[in-house]
Amino acid sequence: MAAQRTFRQTALVLALALACVPALQAADSPIFFFPGMMVSNLTASNTVSDKCMQARSNVQLWPPQVLDLVAGRDCWYQSIRLNYTAGRFVNGSGASVWADTLSPLPSSFNASLAIWVAELQKMFPNYKYGENLFIMGYDWRLDLNSMGSSSQLSQLAAAILSRSSASSRAILMGHSLGALVATQLLSLPEVRARVKGFISYAGPFGGTATAISPRVSGELASLVPPELLQGITLPIPGIDALVREVTWNGVKGMASLAMLLPYSAAYANGTDPVVVRTASRSYRVSQMAGLLRDVGDTLLADTFNQTHTLDKLITAGPIPGVDVYCMYGVGLQTVRQLVFNVTLSDKIAPLPSAYLYGRGDSVVPFDSLRLCDRLTSGSGKVRRIPGTSGKHLGIMRESSVLAFTKKALEALRQRT
Ligand SMILES: *[C@@H]1O[C@H](CO)[C@@H](O)[C@H](O)[C@H]1NC(C)=O
Ligand SMILES: *[C@@H]1O[C@H](CO)[C@@H](O)[C@H](O)[C@H]1NC(C)=O
Ligand SMILES: *[C@@H]1O[C@H](CO)[C@@H](O)[C@H](O)[C@H]1NC(C)=O
Ligand SMILES: *[C@@H]1O[C@H](CO)[C@@H](O)[C@H](O)[C@H]1NC(C)=O
Ligand SMILES: *[C@@H]1O[C@H](CO)[C@@H](O)[C@H](O)[C@H]1NC(C)=O
Ligand SMILES: *[C@@H]1O[C@H](CO)[C@@H](O)[C@H](O)[C@H]1NC(C)=O
Ligand SMILES: *[C@@H]1O[C@H](CO)[C@@H](O)[C@H](O)[C@H]1NC(C)=O
Repeated sequence: MAAQRTFRQTALVLALALACVPALQAADSPIFFFPGMMVSNLTASNTVSDKCMQARSNVQLWPPQVLDLVAGRDCWYQSIRLNYTAGRFVNGSGASVWADTLSPLPSSFNASLAIWVAELQKMFPNYKYGENLFIMGYDWRLDLNSMGSSSQLSQLAAAILSRSSASSRAILMGHSLGALVATQLLSLPEVRARVKGFISYAGPFGGTATAISPRVSGELASLVPPELLQGITLPIPGIDALVREVTWNGVKGMASLAMLLPYSAAYANGTDPVVVRTASRSYRVSQMAGLLRDVGDTLLADTFNQTHTLDKLITAGPIPGVDVYCMYGVGLQTVRQLVFNVTLSDKIAPLPSAYLYGRGDSVVPFDSLRLCDRLTSGSGKVRRIPGTSGKHLGIMRESSVLAFTKKALEALRQRT
């Protein structure tokens, strides 16, 4: 009787142990996901009442909240705009803007992030949102440099450090701008020591011409996931013009947008192509600061050089101790040049009258995406996803991308 019980107990313990081994391994690597531009919720308080009807607190700074914008758009600009003081971009006077480092699970079931979280939990049942799987919120108005000199990067780093250990190192993932943020975090030795893998999805390491549209024409749709813009198609006459006006004003001085402009490092083969053609002149990649000056964004024009900080990291090649995977779309029509039938000035321009296309993932050109390859080492770490599946904004929802993700995660789980 006693022997039998012992045997049964042993068998049970063994079965439990066997069942738990893979589970524990996977749970050993917490996943931190960095979403793309404008996806993280920003919250703000504004204490200046000349532009605002009243001081406001804890409002969300997000363009789809059109009704809020209509009620006080000058207030909104004042809240969202950055100022440049003591060598870095800071909140405008009277405004406090923050992002919660650990985001709640997105509420919309159709949002890319919600789908992605659900799929990941399905593939790896021991991942549970909020326990070992996190979406990181960050201040997407900032360039990487300013994220470092304000407390943004250290806040994100602290969140990773407190949820990982030397024996359970983390896996970072980032989409678009979020991939650049994660890469910048990996330049911090203490973060690097706690990370075993990084998966970059569609990281625009050398910028994209589509970043020009919001700054020049107030056009946002090319840069942010469509589901985030669904809320702004309200049946209000002139709503499109209003949203463009709001965007154009809101992105004035936005350091992250300057950081995403086409950038010379991506064109290191010696070319300096024209990316904007107007009624009176052309702007080459090397002339983006001049473009910013001509559209009246003197803040960004003066600080343009300082918004690019990743090139050293990319030139340095693979990140020691971190397995990097690069996934991006290829072969899709991607804007390389915007043609305007007006001269650009300090007022909102019409949408481009024509576009010139090259190849890329529909938003980011191939040469910019390809810079990610320099961070990888070993074979099978670069996935070029052809056709519609590789679309920049929808890439996280695609089954082939999820399948590649599963493989990468399985490989990373084996890594000690
Ligand atoms: C803006 O204000 C918030 C809240 O006061 C602060 O946490 C954040 O660091 C500031 N951001 C910048 C870029 O100065
Ligand atoms: C920027 O900050 C400086 C120093 O705090 C302040 O004097 C200036 O008025 C601010 N500019 C804007 C546009 O908020
Ligand atoms: C941002 O806030 C909105 C409204 O509260 C919510 O629907 C959305 O899921 C939030 N997104 C994230 C990434 O937390
Ligand atoms: C979610 O997406 C599916 C497929 O695109 C669509 O049929 C459905 O109406 C959407 N649901 C919501 C709540 O938006
Ligand atoms: C050089 O770069 C330009 C612009 O990115 C690209 O169009 C061209 O194909 C590249 N040429 C070579 C030989 O790689
Ligand atoms: C900014 O970069 C451009 C192009 O590389 C260079 O000509 C210029 O001297 C730089 N300006 C500053 C202030 O570093
Ligand atoms: C200029 O381009 C805009 C946007 O495509 C178009 O609406 C407008 O008619 C064009 N104007 C002229 C003079 O060609």
